[in-house]
Amino acid sequence: MKRFTTFAWVAALMLLATACSKKVSLEGTWYGKQYNSLLTVTFNPDSTLNIQSEASSNVSMQARYTLNQATTPMQIDLTRTSNGMPAAGIARVNPDGTLELCIDFGAMGTPKRPATFDSVPTSMTTQYYKLTRDKQSVMSDIAPKVKAPAEAQLAFERNKRLGTGINLNAVVDGNLHPGYERDAPLPDSEIKSIADVGFQSIRLNVCWSKHAATEKPYTIDPAFFKKVDHIVNECLKNGMAVSIDVHYYPYINMDEPDENVPYEENFERLYCLWEQLAEHYKDYPPEVYFDLLNEPNLRLGAEKWNEIVAKLVKIIRKTNPDRTLLVLTPNLGQHWTLNQLELPADDWNIIVQFHYYLPHLFTHNGLAYAHAENSQQAVWMGTDEEKAPILYDFDFIQRWSEAHGRPVNMGEYGTVNTVNKASRARYLGFVHGEAVKRGFSSHLWGYREVFQIRDEKTGAWEQEILDALDLNGKKK
Ligand code: GLC
Repeated sequence: MKRFTTFAWVAALMLLATACSKKVSLEGTWYGKQYNSLLTVTFNPDSTLNIQSEASSNVSMQARYTLNQATTPMQIDLTRTSNGMPAAGIARVNPDGTLELCIDFGAMGTPKRPATFDSVPTSMTTQYYKLTRDKQSVMSDIAPKVKAPAEAQLAFERNKRLGTGINLNAVVDGNLHPGYERDAPLPDSEIKSIADVGFQSIRLNVCWSKHAATEKPYTIDPAFFKKVDHIVNECLKNGMAVSIDVHYYPYINMDEPDENVPYEENFERLYCLWEQLAEHYKDYPPEVYFDLLNEPNLRLGAEKWNEIVAKLVKIIRKTNPDRTLLVLTPNLGQHWTLNQLELPADDWNIIVQFHYYLPHLFTHNGLAYAHAENSQQAVWMGTDEEKAPILYDFDFIQRWSEAHGRPVNMGEYGTVNTVNKASRARYLGFVHGEAVKRGFSSHLWGYREVFQIRDEKTGAWEQEILDALDLNGKKK
């Protein structure tokens, strides 16, 4: 009996030891959300992992990983990452079977492992993922909550009317980028020339905040209104549709503050500006569109932007029940935040806008304000490898548009004019062509300055680019 008891004890201890040393296995595929879109993390048997976002080609990566299970939380390290940055993180498997990861890629490749899950850092280089094995639960969480009614068709038609357009920048936008501040007069003949080469619409970039009072009711200078009206009328006269935007707005588009308007008041000011704009343009034809705010910035975030959109739509609808509105996605108009944008469920006369400048180091080559001053990337050959991420992103945007019943406008795309000439035309032609294939309207950035496609001094258009945009066919 005694011998048996000893044996039982030994067996129990052995079982306990095995249980304690039993390693959790992360192997296989996990699902979660990033920017409210599907994120997939796959741990492979050969100690590599793949992280992929359905919304962004930028987030796809591969790495080797090691997992230290002896610590609480577990430590996970990534090396040989496809983005070239090592990462350090923590991991834990919860009793409900979910997996949490918090991984820091660190500035300049020097990651700082987060200590706990208690205060998940929100820095640009730290990613937090909560993952499950249950793909369906994530998918139904993300799925559109409302179905587009038949009336949504109108916005698709109006989007077609925008067709292929261009941003009319540096005319009344009061560019705030240091070294580029300037508004130059625009002769009517130039507007005619834009229409003549075949552009169907203009995104008119306007810095209203520079020409409005800084105290309630923030009255817009009537002389400035006149100037803008003249351009709008000339565009219409030349058969082009015009979307009027709010460009270089302080605090929440540009990061710069307005010395005369405190942060909180600046929202009220935006509402009051739109109240005036809506009243002023209410009798204009449907070829005039309203574009609520250029590139709502990171500081603003998705939640606040959604709140502003809801308020602005209400304000505008009081005087413009049939006006077509353009609304950018949160966080600078990036396409991967499409699923974070919330639009009023009862308003379908809205076109959703995104901006596309990838690969950034090519499109912004040499520009210090865009942290690309050291970029060596001046060519784009149009190889399959170069095209793949763009196709990936555009396919996502198209799926989103179809699922949500909302038309899409690519409100900006372009490259600086210092990159290789043939590459530039090739790139612009490809991006534009893929947009057209998917039914997105588009506005090239831009008419003037470093992104210009027409020489400001000689007035000569870059014929190679016009050809790449297939504009000649539309010449009147
Ligand atoms: C955004 C900015 C504009 C800039 C362009 C390209 O539209 O508002 O100033 O030139 O992107 O970087």
